[in-house]
Amino acid sequence: MPKTYRIAPSILSADFARLGEEVRNVIAAGADWVHFDVMDNHYVPNLTFGPMVCQALKPHAKRPDGTPVPIDVHLMIQPVDALAAAFAEAGADLISFHPDASGHVHRSIQAIKSKGCQAGLVFNPAQPLDVLDWVIEDIDLILIMSVNPGFGGQSFIDSALRKTEAVRRRIEASGKDIRLEVDGGIKADNIRRVADAGADTFVAGSAIFGKPDYKAVIDAMRKALA
Ligand code: DX5
Ligand code: ZN
Repeated sequence: MPKTYRIAPSILSADFARLGEEVRNVIAAGADWVHFDVMDNHYVPNLTFGPMVCQALKPHAKRPDGTPVPIDVHLMIQPVDALAAAFAEAGADLISFHPDASGHVHRSIQAIKSKGCQAGLVFNPAQPLDVLDWVIEDIDLILIMSVNPGFGGQSFIDSALRKTEAVRRRIEASGKDIRLEVDGGIKADNIRRVADAGADTFVAGSAIFGKPDYKAVIDAMRKALA
């Protein structure tokens, strides 16, 4: 059974000059998670922020009543393990990496889990799912890229829907409690199709931060999902 839907705004499209305020505002607008895109100008041709920024934002990742909001770290970096550990110490709650960026995928998963974080694997649009044959029982999250990683504001790649369906079947067969997140090109007008393919968690950057009223966008997404 699909779980409760979660909307995870990506601060990649936020105003970097006022990130703490942007995190608070998007949480006030209804964000369930805060998606944190880490790029290294090596695995992807762009460069964003590191563990020190995550640590600085951690106190802002809470609801007005003090309830913490999970920080969902998406690592687009190679190598993986040392920085994954640094993000765990900087307050990340979930840490996902691309299996093709790690020489030892199982070891990287264990490195994340040994720090008390949930671990996820991320699949690029042309990346096969075969590695799941061997590690699905070890992970908490599967993230399907519906754009090529590196930049916000790209168009949704439709083959991600078929891939999401295939992953949903694998999760059902595993009997495990694993979140299925989709990242890239998601907007209020296509989020329903992504949910129908089997996703339960939705990353959206430019669709939310590109509009003046974040709550109006998140409300429209929830309405489409209802
Ligand atoms: C791309 C990132 C995404 C990005 C999505 O590499 O992983 O999280 O922020 O941006 P939009 O929603 O604008 O496609
Ligand atoms: Zn991302």
